[in-house]
Amino acid sequence: MNFKIPLLIKKYFFTQKHIPNLKELGSLGLKKEEKRQLLVTLRYAFILFHVIAEKMHKLSKKTSCQLACSILMVSTQELLIHKQPFYHVSQDLKTTLLQARLQWLLKPALAFLKDLPSLDLILQNVQKTLSDENVLHHLLQETPSLDFKVFFSHPPLWLRIDNPDALRMIHSELIIQESASPLNAVLLKYSTPETETLFQRGYISYQDIASQSLIEAIDKIEQPIHVIDACAAPGGKATALMKRWSTSHFTLTDNDEIRLDGMNANINRVFQNNSHEAKILNHDWTTATLDEKADFILVDAPCSGTGVIRRHPDILWNKTVVDLIKSSNIQKKILQNASSCLKSRGYLLYSTCSLSSIENDEVVKDFLSNNLDFKTEPFTLSRGVRTSYGIQIIPSNEQDGLYYCLLRKN
Ligand SMILES: C[S@@+](CC[C@H](N)C(=O)[O-])C[C@H]1O[C@@H](n2cnc3c(N)ncnc32)[C@H](O)[C@@H]1O
Repeated sequence: MNFKIPLLIKKYFFTQKHIPNLKELGSLGLKKEEKRQLLVTLRYAFILFHVIAEKMHKLSKKTSCQLACSILMVSTQELLIHKQPFYHVSQDLKTTLLQARLQWLLKPALAFLKDLPSLDLILQNVQKTLSDENVLHHLLQETPSLDFKVFFSHPPLWLRIDNPDALRMIHSELIIQESASPLNAVLLKYSTPETETLFQRGYISYQDIASQSLIEAIDKIEQPIHVIDACAAPGGKATALMKRWSTSHFTLTDNDEIRLDGMNANINRVFQNNSHEAKILNHDWTTATLDEKADFILVDAPCSGTGVIRRHPDILWNKTVVDLIKSSNIQKKILQNASSCLKSRGYLLYSTCSLSSIENDEVVKDFLSNNLDFKTEPFTLSRGVRTSYGIQIIPSNEQDGLYYCLLRKN
């Protein structure tokens, strides 16, 4: 183990409590295998820390022991997840503890690793002992059929085919599955330098099938003249809509300037600078509405992200049930202000990547009770389960978790 890895686990898991983004990751000077070790340990950090805390109580309690804990988290990950032989892991551990001047830990650590339960048992145990304010506990209470393991699994890699020629250019051996119309989606085993080139040339976008399902949700809607995407950055759904409704006028708003820059770059990539007509505004919908009227509005609201935990495992380190309630208060304001820009007979699609009814059905319920000129509009998706007001896509090996609800104004 490169000594840098436990130092980085300590920094990201214990101190900063966030996952490094691609730019940060690139600046760490890690080899490919070291990046894997860092990212997989962080993906499972919640579970790894739990088992260490349970078996090595004193170690996990002391702040001064965070480096020791980080070293042990990497070794545990190598044994449990990467399935490395015990001999290799123990030799690696010995060298690393020596470097960290933590030789005293070797004996108890080896005893701990030798006695490690299987990953399945650990997951069952963690699931049983989650505290009431833990978001996973809340989600499992709400939806007992959720597969706990999925929250720690490797996320699927879906492409959106923006140019049909891309299909000929992707090696068929890479393709696991193709979606049915109206979606143009392909599930890949992994990306390659060729898919990266197709991405840069605007032939494909990386977008999960659950997000792409937006196109199914609007399938029956006649092409609108004017569209507002209220929380648009970085433009994943906006570019899908712009492809679908190529002659509509778009207003794309967001309150985050950096994310708006990312959206501009994304639009230029997808349309290869043959600029699609779109008005882009920095706008905060919690405090104001806009002076324009649209036939279709998308409110892809900011949320807890519980449907995409495996892509952002730090959600588990930082968010509690209280955050879901805070988030729903913001969603209610955004939905209310955005809805006042809708023309009569227009449609509004509310979506989140949350699994909690607090941010989904409850927000819609509250909105409908205050806006009697709106009602829910039936729609179908090829995945997901119906809820009182919308459709909840459940995260699985094939898809992320998302919620959609289609509303219509009288
Ligand atoms: C779920 S993300 C949107 C993802 C985007 N629709 C896509 O498909 O790429 C939510 C967005 O809402 C933005 N946001 C958060 N609070 C906002 C507010 N008060 N007004 C406008 N946008 C907001 C965030 O900056 C973030 O970009």
